[in-house]
Formats: sequence, C-alpha cells, structure tokens
Amino acid sequence: MDSKLIEFLNSHASCRNFTSQKISPEQERIIVTTAQRSPTSSNLQAYSIVGVREQATKVRLAKLCGSQDHVAQSSLFLVFCADLYRLSALNKSRGYSFTGEWTELFIVATVDTSLAACRALMTAQAMGMGGVMVGGIRNDPEAVCKLLNLPEFVYPVMGMSLGFPNKKPKVKPRLPLQAVYFNERYIPSLFEESISEYDRTIDSIGYLKGREVRPEDYPEFQGEYSWSEHTARQMSGDNRSASVRTHMLEFLKSRGFLRK
Ligand SMILES: Cc1cc2nc3c(=O)[nH]c(=O)nc-3n(C[C@H](O)[C@H](O)[C@H](O)COP(=O)(O)O)c2cc1C
Repeated sequence: MDSKLIEFLNSHASCRNFTSQKISPEQERIIVTTAQRSPTSSNLQAYSIVGVREQATKVRLAKLCGSQDHVAQSSLFLVFCADLYRLSALNKSRGYSFTGEWTELFIVATVDTSLAACRALMTAQAMGMGGVMVGGIRNDPEAVCKLLNLPEFVYPVMGMSLGFPNKKPKVKPRLPLQAVYFNERYIPSLFEESISEYDRTIDSIGYLKGREVRPEDYPEFQGEYSWSEHTARQMSGDNRSASVRTHMLEFLKSRGFLRK
C-alpha cells in the first residue's frame, strides 16, 4: 500500500490565495498530460481544456465567475469543457449522422471532463501548487463561450484557479462516512444523526461565520446557523438561489446538448 499517496489524497483542501510565483510551461504540460491519463468513457476523451494566462482574460473571467478574485490572481486558469465538437466533426467528415444531442452523451462528456479536472488539481497539488475548481464559470456561460471561442457541442463545466499557495489551506471535514456509504443497500433513513454530528463539527471550526445564505429572506430565523441550514437555503429559493443557475438547460440546448 502506498500510504504516502493515500495521505496526500486525504490532505486535499481548496486553495484560493496565491503568491506571485508563476507556474512554468513544463509544470503546465505535466498538469494537463496527467489529467489526460484519467479514465474516459469508451476512450471518447470528450473534453477539452483551455489554459488562460493572459491577465486581461483572467480579469474578465474573474468577473464572469461572480467576481472571484482568485481567478485573476491565479498563475494559470484552466477551463474544463465538455466537448462533443471533435466527435461531431469526425462524423461529419465521414458523412455519418451524429448522436451528440442525446442526454447520455451529455453525461458522458460531463463526467469525462470532471474526471480530468480532478486529476489536474491533484497533479498541481502534488507539485506543491494549490487550486480550486470554479463552478462560477457557469454563471454567464454564453459570455465565456464567446470569450474563449468555444464552438457548438462544447460547454464550460468548471474553471480551475491554479498557483502557488500563499498559506496552507485548511482541510475541511466531510460528512460522517455512514451518511454517504452503505453496505449492500441504500438506507434512506440513516443520515439524520450523521447530519447533526456534521453540523456540530462544522460549527466547531467556525467555517460558516459570515457566510449566511440570503439572510434577508429568513428574518425570523432564530436557530443555530448550521451546515444543514446553510445547505437547505442553498437548495431552496427557486430561481433566487445562486446554486440553481436557471439558464443552464436553455444554454445547453443552444450548444447542441440535451435535445433528446
Ligand atoms: C464542481 C465544483 C465547483 C466549485 N466551484 C467553486 C467556485 O465557483 N468558487 C469557489 O470558491 N469554490 C468552488 N468549489 C470548491 C468547493 O467550494 C470546495 O471543494 C468545497 O467547499 C469543499 O472544500 P475543500 O475542497 O477545501 O475540501 C467548487 C468545487 C467543485 C467540485
């Protein structure tokens, strides 16, 4: 057993503060080629990565991602895109029909992209860098597509700010194992105690202080502002919830995805 590797995997923490040290072109190549070694559905490799170093572009992307400063501060910002364009072009050149509008192909491309992104982040971390995935790239995905010249059948799944950490980020506790791992069969009623336990853990590290979701919508709220309250608010509020990104279905259809 490679316990050093397991220890490394368990030390993951997102990093949002970077020094001015640059990621070298060789380090960038290692990050991307190692990401490419990820498993990929049917070896389709249905993703592309756009690397952004130009400051003006990073500043624009930071704004588009909801004014996330670490995007502009990063040495390298990677945009991980689900990509069926390459495959559609292949079929076109052979005069074959193309199945890219089916939901399954959307899932395939999105999963492939996420697996590659995960490995890219781990590789950067293994080289002493830090980084954070950025779902904010889907706040205004049309504008991102224009800025990065993304063709049809390509959409940005997530961004990734990468650089050298200013300070070591803290490892964030996860839900107790029994809430997420079941023996043989799923048991829907088993998580309540785990969630209370997790609320206490998150409270003890003070992680949610000053991060209340839409406090103006809950003037009557008296209880402890816990992880479960925070998460429930994120998952409610319909189209006022930032987590929902209500434009996504129409946007994805406009790119060619999810039409069937
Ligand atoms: C797909 C994805 C999108 C994310 N988007 C953002 C983001 O836009 N901004 C941000 O600060 N963190 C983002 N994160 C980081 C999560 O907030 C973070 O992983 C989570 O809070 C757990 O913390 P940890 O990674 O430090 O363990 C994202 C993570 C994932 C997996």
